[in-house]
Amino acid sequence: MEYSDATKELLNGAGASIGDHISVTTRGAVQRGMVMPRHMFTGPDILVLKLSSGYNIGLRIGEGTTLVLIEEAKKEERPSSTPPGTGLPPVAFLSTGGTIASYVDYRTGAVHPAVEAQDLLFTVPELSDLCEVRSTVLSSILSEDMDVALWQELANAIVLEFEKGARGVIVPHGTDTLGYTAAALSYMLTSLPGPVVLVGSQRSSDRPSSDATMNLLAATRVALAPIGEVVVVMHDSSSDDRCAIHRGSRVRKMHTSRRDAFQSINTLPLGYVEGKEVTILEKVRGLEKRAAADTRMEPNVVLVHAYPGITPARFSGMTSGAKGVVIAGTGLGHISSDIVPVISKLVAGGVRVVMTSQCLWGSTNLNVYSTGRELLQAGVEPCGDMLPETALVELMCRLARQPGKRGTDAGHRRERHE
Ligand code: DGL
Repeated sequence: MEYSDATKELLNGAGASIGDHISVTTRGAVQRGMVMPRHMFTGPDILVLKLSSGYNIGLRIGEGTTLVLIEEAKKEERPSSTPPGTGLPPVAFLSTGGTIASYVDYRTGAVHPAVEAQDLLFTVPELSDLCEVRSTVLSSILSEDMDVALWQELANAIVLEFEKGARGVIVPHGTDTLGYTAAALSYMLTSLPGPVVLVGSQRSSDRPSSDATMNLLAATRVALAPIGEVVVVMHDSSSDDRCAIHRGSRVRKMHTSRRDAFQSINTLPLGYVEGKEVTILEKVRGLEKRAAADTRMEPNVVLVHAYPGITPARFSGMTSGAKGVVIAGTGLGHISSDIVPVISKLVAGGVRVVMTSQCLWGSTNLNVYSTGRELLQAGVEPCGDMLPETALVELMCRLARQPGKRGTDAGHRRERHE
């Protein structure tokens, strides 16, 4: 979108255009930065500058505003929407929502979810230096509103993007349930000719401490690497030194607000992105010829957190009508022995009950204590060191694909996700 006539006049007067470094003096304050393109939500007389910190600000242009050109942009620095066929490898961005896919309305300072494909490039124009950006806004939700239908839509959209020639697919996603979606896609996408990279940000792009730009650029570099898996790319520490690459079925948000909230659990990150360098340290699945998905999922599965004082009536209520039950048990995988008869009944009625640990670190072992052995006898299936949310989506997939089969799908897990 074009700037207003008054703003254009000021820019032209200084011989400056989009991408140039300028200094602007307005109401006695001086700001230096790069001229950003105007966005549909930018106010009429607001000029957007990207500061050297990466922070974007909107400056109101008025009487007495002066503008000086400091340095013209090098050609490759000019932010632009990448037209198709630039010669760079195509990467598809399928935005689902959350902070990473939001932009700032410079009139009000409010953060909004992205509604247009171009919003992503507006926030991080450097993306077009790395790849041909193919951007689609699939949904514009906060990730607590994610559901099975959206996972299925997302998996199908990813397959389509690979069929249309994308080298990799990036899924900007709210961080709250990003781990669940990463695990769901890990099970639904059965064959991948390139990486599927989920990325989020803990701080929105209007804040100096935003991790959005670095995470997105690192995710884009990973999207071009030879990894045939679903991965998550996020800050590895609270400084801006490197991002970690986590396996989609092994990652969890472990802090409400820190930028290094995401951690690989019971395993090491697959690798890191430091500046332009992508280093893969663990064995990863290679690239397949074509993308394929099996998006069948049984949504009627519940995840129950065991706690002291849980009663058989409460447990029955929580699991009533479910086809599958995942218990995030205490310690090695326990729940009050009062619940065992209820579980026996559920299993006898054809309901699958699996056990994970709310400790997260370590593995279930139902052979150590008497409650564990009773639970095994009742038909509970232990999940080893699988995260509860991964066990949830794994059971949803397994019930839809092989309704009659018992036992966690360990072979499938080992081959693709461990
Ligand atoms: N509730 C959050 C979500 O969508 C918004 C913040 C974020 O993107 O992390 O997961």
